Amino acid sequence: MTGAGRRSPIGGAEGVGRGKARPGRGEMAAAATQGMEPLRVGFVGAGRMAEAIAQGFIRAGKVEAQHILASAPTDRNLCHFQALGCRTTHCNREVLQSCLLVFFATKPHVLPTVLAEVAPVVTAKHILVSVAAGVSLSTLEEEGAMVMARGRHAGSSEAKLLQTLLEACGQCEEVPEAHVDIHTGLSGSGVAFVCAFSEALAEGAIKMGMPGGLAHRIAAQTLLGTAKMLQQKGQHPAQLRTDVCTPGGTTIYGLHALEQGGLRAAAMSAVEAATSRARELSGK
Ligand SMILES: NC(=O)c1ccc[n+]([C@@H]2O[C@H](COP(=O)([O-])OP(=O)(O)OC[C@H]3O[C@@H](n4cnc5c(N)ncnc54)[C@H](OP(=O)(O)O)[C@@H]3O)[C@@H](O)[C@H]2O)c1
Repeated sequence: MTGAGRRSPIGGAEGVGRGKARPGRGEMAAAATQGMEPLRVGFVGAGRMAEAIAQGFIRAGKVEAQHILASAPTDRNLCHFQALGCRTTHCNREVLQSCLLVFFATKPHVLPTVLAEVAPVVTAKHILVSVAAGVSLSTLEEEGAMVMARGRHAGSSEAKLLQTLLEACGQCEEVPEAHVDIHTGLSGSGVAFVCAFSEALAEGAIKMGMPGGLAHRIAAQTLLGTAKMLQQKGQHPAQLRTDVCTPGGTTIYGLHALEQGGLRAAAMSAVEAATSRARELSGK
């Protein structure tokens, strides 16, 4: 996951970090995998991102609801956690005191204050995860595609534990820190780019006389089917595109129109612009 608060005073980490002293490294991960003690997961900030991640863990049976503790200043969002069977508190420090794996899921501007507040109770055993602008809720809730980057103090057992958990919410890959903002441009913002393309496809059909509802349903299904084929066959998109192009047929005529409209250049520029903006926002 990418990191709001990625310059955390606690772990100096982006994505996943650790308290600074070293003893106890990997103990929790080992315990979790060996069934020695239940994994307790905390959320500081209990809004939409926190809830989506917690729901993913519970649904996948990775963490029991009663072992999740969430904090927020008001009950506005905590009531959703209570409805899931999780514990809640208004005290951020209590989350760190009860849980060794803690997700920070407040808005970025609140994070520095929150980190300063909890810093005295952070130990070397904590694994701290920041949730960032790169993952959209829709990707998290559905066919999730997440990346996580490790901070200086996070070891491979912590990264493995986090990856195993986050896979409950979708595909999760560990990447170098430099790829995190590119992921934001490709996947986080990509949802909107693909929606724009789906809308445009449907509007082409509407222009040709198809009813709107039907056109949008078929466009969405076409995107879904294509994505599934790409994933299942592990093919390069150019291969699939070539396979469906009969010489002199409809598809090559349509593709010619797309090339004339500059679709590829526009899509590449969109990812470039979104990545640059993500870098700007993260102060790089
Ligand atoms: N939503 C998305 O689609 C999305 C996508 C990508 C990234 N993100 C990132 O994820 C993070 C959280 O986003 P969100 O949409 O989940 O935000 P949100 O729904 O507004 O939730 C923010 C949570 O932080 C809590 N909070 C505020 N001040 C706090 C404090 N001092 N201590 C502890 N908790 C505090 C809020 O408390 P109350 O419940 O009392 O208001 C609320 O529960 C942000 O960094 C955002 O950039 C979100």
